[in-house]
Amino acid sequence: MYGVLRSELPNIVILASGNGSNFQVLAEKSLNGELQARVKALIVDKPCGAIERANKLGIDSIVLSKPWYENFEHLIEDINPDLIVLAGFMRIIPENLTQKYFLKIVNIHPSLLPSFPGKDAIKQAYEYGVKVTGITIHFVDAGIDTGPIIFQKSLEVKEDWDLETLERNIHMLEHDFYWRVVNDLLYKPYKIQGRKVVWGV
Ligand code: GRF
Repeated sequence: MYGVLRSELPNIVILASGNGSNFQVLAEKSLNGELQARVKALIVDKPCGAIERANKLGIDSIVLSKPWYENFEHLIEDINPDLIVLAGFMRIIPENLTQKYFLKIVNIHPSLLPSFPGKDAIKQAYEYGVKVTGITIHFVDAGIDTGPIIFQKSLEVKEDWDLETLERNIHMLEHDFYWRVVNDLLYKPYKIQGRKVVWGV
């Protein structure tokens, strides 16, 4: 059973590699108190747009030095966050770390897994011609986008949508739901039964 009652705010770190729009929403929701957690740091593997967003919000950002996964492990040991939130972090986390931190690392993916894992998922789904796609929030295991699913939300692809419209709608869903699911993971009990994440005691 995971998820606990707390007397003080839990800490999270957010990892990103790019634009950082999901990071920004998580950070803003934390700053305004809707996400009841403290964002201890933005961690990136290279200079990217997310850093500028962190600067504007007064959140520390850390650029991982090489080899990034050793630096990552040291940082996590140091900060000891309650949850490690991946938000567009474009690195595969080595198996020893996904095992060590299993159920502590959460990721968001812009498709309904197991369809369209990996890079460019929105484009993959669009070009495949799916009528329904969506987002998946899952725990991170050693595979690529294969960990136990925590949350999914579907979205109907309208016939007159171009790729940009689909991308915009997917990001809106992500921004709507990621912080809520992170909050739930920090406060609501859940169990893992095989691959299933089951809410409740
Ligand atoms: C999101 O679509 C997320 O699902 C995927 O990477 C993208 C990151 O976007 N893992 P942003 O950097 O948060 O804008």
